[in-house]
This record gives sequence, C-alpha cells and structure tokens, in this order.
Amino acid sequence: MIKVAIVGGTGYTGVELLRLLALHPHAQVKVITSRSEEGVRVADMYPNLRESYPNLAFTVPDADALTSCDVVFFATPHGVAHSLADEILQAGTRVIDLSADFRLEDADEWAQWYGQPHGAPHLLADAIYGLPEVNRDKIKDARLIAVPGCYPTAVQLGLLPLVEAGLADPQQIIASCASGVSGAGRGAKVGSLFCEAGENMMAYGVKGHRHLPEIKQGLSRAAGQPVELTFVPHLVPMIRGIHATLYTTVVDRSVDLQALFEQRYQNEPFVDVLPAGVFPQTRTVKGANMCRIAVQRPQNGDVVVVMSVIDNLVKGASGQAVQNMNIMFGLDENSGLTTIALIP
Ligand SMILES: NC(=O)c1ccc[n+]([C@@H]2O[C@H](COP(=O)([O-])OP(=O)(O)OC[C@H]3O[C@@H](n4cnc5c(N)ncnc54)[C@H](OP(=O)(O)O)[C@@H]3O)[C@@H](O)[C@H]2O)c1
Repeated sequence: MIKVAIVGGTGYTGVELLRLLALHPHAQVKVITSRSEEGVRVADMYPNLRESYPNLAFTVPDADALTSCDVVFFATPHGVAHSLADEILQAGTRVIDLSADFRLEDADEWAQWYGQPHGAPHLLADAIYGLPEVNRDKIKDARLIAVPGCYPTAVQLGLLPLVEAGLADPQQIIASCASGVSGAGRGAKVGSLFCEAGENMMAYGVKGHRHLPEIKQGLSRAAGQPVELTFVPHLVPMIRGIHATLYTTVVDRSVDLQALFEQRYQNEPFVDVLPAGVFPQTRTVKGANMCRIAVQRPQNGDVVVVMSVIDNLVKGASGQAVQNMNIMFGLDENSGLTTIALIP
C-alpha cells in the first residue's frame, strides 16, 4: 500500500482526492491536514466519506508526519508547496502539487503572474509537468509533479493534435472556456455565492488570466515554436465542469481531422474523441477522470472548432493527480479512476 498524505484536505480538490483514493486498491490516506479544522474527523466534515474514513482526522501540517508517507499531495493555494516541498523531497517522499507552484519553467515569469517571488526556483529543474498524454515517460521517474491547471488541461488536450502536427496557425488560436463555480475553491467569496453565480454567465480575466502562460508554454513546446493564444474564461452556473471551445485556422484543409484526433488519442485511457458530429457535454464527465473531445470544420472552411470538456476537480485536478501517482509508482494507470460520470 502506498502511504499518502494530503496537505489542504478541507478544500474541494482535497476532498476529491479523498473520494478517489477511498476507491484506490493500492493507496491509503494516512495524513490529512487542515489548520482551521484541526482535530475534526473527515467523516464529520464530509459525511459522504463516513464509511471510507471512520477515524481519520485533520491535523496541522507537520514535516515528520508528511515525510512518513510515500507521497504528499498539495491541494493548497499557490506558495504553500514552495515552502514545504524541499524538506519532503529531501526525506525521499515524492510530491504531487495541484497548485501552480511548479507549472511554469521560468521563475521570473511565475513571479510576474503570481505577484510574489518564486519560493523554490532551485526545484524547478526537478519538476515534471504532469500531463500524462504528453509527459508519461518523464512522470515515471519524477519526484516532483506539477499537476496542470483545469483550463490548461482542457485547452491543451483539445489543441495538441493540431499543434503537434503543425496544422494550427500558431498566431491564430482562441480559447473561449466556461467553468463551474467549484473552480474557485471552497473559500467564501462574494462571486461564488448562489445569488451571484446562479442564473448568470460572465467573462473574467480577459486582460490576462494566470492560466494563460501555462497554456502557451505547453502549446509552444508541442509546436516547437512560440504560440500566441487569446484565452477568455467564463463563470457559468454549474458546480463542476469545464467546457472549452477552441478556434484556430487550419493550414492544410486536406487533412482528415477526425482521423488525426482519433489516432493521437487511440491509446489514451482518459481522452475520448467523440464520433464526428457528436458534441461533448460537461455532464458526461462529471465525477470521472475523462476528457471528451470533438473536432469540426464548419462549412468546410479554414477555421477548426474543437470542443473539449472535463470535470475541473477530476481530470482538471485530483483525478489527474492520482493518474500521475499511478504512473510514478508503476501501477495500472486506471487504478482508482474507473468511476463513471453521473447522469443526470
Ligand atoms: N478547484 C479547482 O477546480 C482546481 C482545479 C485545478 C487546480 N486547483 C488548484 O488546487 C489548489 C487547491 O484548490 P481548491 O479549490 O481545493 O482550494 P480550496 O478549496 O480553497 O482549499 C484550500 C485548502 O488548502 C488549505 N490551506 C490554505 N492555506 C494553507 C497554508 N498556508 N498551509 C497549508 N494549508 C493551507 C486549506 O485548509 P486550511 O486553511 O484549514 O489549512 C484548504 O484545505 C489551488 O492551488 C488551486 O488553484 C483547483
């Protein structure tokens, strides 16, 4: 059994890790932290987990407890993994960080977007960007994983086949995305209130969202040249889910894009290319570690439209984190991740 610790266990990605790991045949959560809920039993805070964790209680983060485990997941705001990861790694425990702390290769760029100095630039060389569909081989030997963000997962998986094949105009890519409210975390914020987010749709971060440099970094690496992107996120009144609508100009209209996408993802257990003419819906991935994608070239024109959906808390965060753990520990990549989406 892999001994697991989770830092930040009361938040939405933390509790999603608990749910997924409860069903994992080879992992057991030994330590779960919260500074505000110290001593509270998981079962009392999250009654859906009563049978799975009858005795586990939240404790404050403690280096000895964390390093007694094989792997530590950080389900915390940015900056927390910066301060704790080094000590954990030095003790030989692996780290899977769900925050943005190690996603950008350039510490100065990170500081610019996150408004504070990078807290652990010396660890960047060890950090592997945990998108298995791109980095599976590197993840196998990794000690430190930067789990991709939710929007970056949906957008990159939707565009990778085109960008890798040199079929997308790298100056003409637009990502218009919608996210459910759980994407903002569990902390109390006015914008997340039922009366504010319900019956409403709004764009935000149009001037520049923190996920923009991460998406550009991944797509530029895949393209082998700098990629420009216009990224417009929206908040929509659902709890879970991301729907990305991606537009680019195709440089060769003779290519069968449906076949290209099917071929690119034919061996990927968590990417589903839908049949031609079928469009993905967020409810078909709710609770599941799955990305469903459709590709269209309307009216046989130059513009390609790709639609990509994920559950922000699963393939967009905790499910992808467990997928990384499975690869790192040489387990079946599906372990603990076979839950089917909930409809309705
Ligand atoms: N929500 C999503 O859909 C999503 C998707 C992908 C990635 N992410 C990323 O995943 C991370 C967690 O997101 P979330 O939505 O789960 O956040 P959240 O609901 O706000 O939860 C944050 C958790 O971190 C703990 N925490 C806060 N400050 C801490 C500190 N200084 N030291 C130790 N623990 C601390 C909190 O517990 P205490 O304060 O009680 O300790 C809480 O359990 C974020 O970096 C987020 O950007 C989120």
